Amino acid sequence: MVSLDDIEDPASEALEPPPPGSPLHALVRAFAPGAEDLQAGAQILGGSAVMRTLIEQIVRVAHIPRPLLIVGERGTGKELVARAIHFASGRPAGRMVTINCAAIGDTLLESELFGHERGAFTGAERARRGRFEQADGGTLFLDEIGNMPLPFQQKILRVVEYGTFTPVGGSAERKTSARIVAATNADLRGKIRRGEFLGDLYDRLAFEIISVPPLRERPEDVELLAHRFLEQFAAEIPAFRGKRLAESALEQLRRYPFPGNVRELKNLIERAAYRDTTNEITPEDIGLLRHEEPVLAAGGFTEQVARFSRRLLERALAEAGGNRAEAARRLGLSYDQFRHHYRKHGLGKREPD
Ligand SMILES: Nc1ncnc2c1ncn2[C@@H]1O[C@H](COP(=O)(O)OP(=O)(O)OP(=O)(O)O)[C@@H](O)[C@H]1O
Ligand SMILES: [Mg+2]
Repeated sequence: MVSLDDIEDPASEALEPPPPGSPLHALVRAFAPGAEDLQAGAQILGGSAVMRTLIEQIVRVAHIPRPLLIVGERGTGKELVARAIHFASGRPAGRMVTINCAAIGDTLLESELFGHERGAFTGAERARRGRFEQADGGTLFLDEIGNMPLPFQQKILRVVEYGTFTPVGGSAERKTSARIVAATNADLRGKIRRGEFLGDLYDRLAFEIISVPPLRERPEDVELLAHRFLEQFAAEIPAFRGKRLAESALEQLRRYPFPGNVRELKNLIERAAYRDTTNEITPEDIGLLRHEEPVLAAGGFTEQVARFSRRLLERALAEAGGNRAEAARRLGLSYDQFRHHYRKHGLGKREPD
């Protein structure tokens, strides 16, 4: 298991100090005791090969003062990775400042990022430092960069290339040494093709691309994460102490594809611990039963889709008391479409139409 907080643990496997230059050595330095912020969140759990590779990649890139891009589905841990990079970057003097590009409207984004001079706009009674200045010497985390409006991308490109920017209402350029880490779950290449994202900015950010794998590609991490989350919640909430996950619950988790990734797992565990009344968390407490089945049935894509659509037809028919026109309506299909699928699945074989 590789966990950034385990590395300081004297009881962990690393009894010998890691040799200088090794990834572990760099991590130990980066996470020296006293880095309280470590507790604040940069604890990347996971023992799968893909997660080990990811940690190695983080260690390698952390010290290189270049922009980078973190990609991955929602809830995979992109922000966690950004924090780990900041802590491992050896820039203890600087802060990590986060801005969510999707959450801030166009008009505010500029002054948020670059700051503004006094009187720059109505209500700007005092000059204000922007996030680039706040992050000077540290890391600026541009979250959801895929949602940043194009005109801003141009400005960000300028900062990334020359380290300079101009506050709103100001005339003089300022400099920043903030290291830019951007993250997105959007398909940036598709956005570039559609003219929604600047190819030049992508190329610059793509100095290194860190891809955080979805949880379904590392099923071996599920159990470890589930146990650790349960421990964490128990440490925080006394009523959750002493609870354990039944083997059947673990089995169910292992088979679930987690579209919401680690965040979904974390939320599931928390809710299951709350629902459970017996100290043994069961599949019912987790409550995945109904979503799980169709997605994880055996067979290839075509076969599974066919089975699923057949089931939809059967259920709609049952609900409609066997009335096909009504079943079609319930499924949002025309009668002809319904009949097409109905026949394809051999449901109407022996009946005249
Ligand atoms: N490997 C991991 N170990 C421990 N906790 C994790 C791990 N990955 C993710 N988490 C936890 O899952 C939650 C979601 O992680 P995070 O916010 O980093 O995801 P994200 O990729 O930025 O999601 P989004 O795309 O929705 O912004 C957080 O509570 C985080 O602490
Ligand atoms: Mg995020």
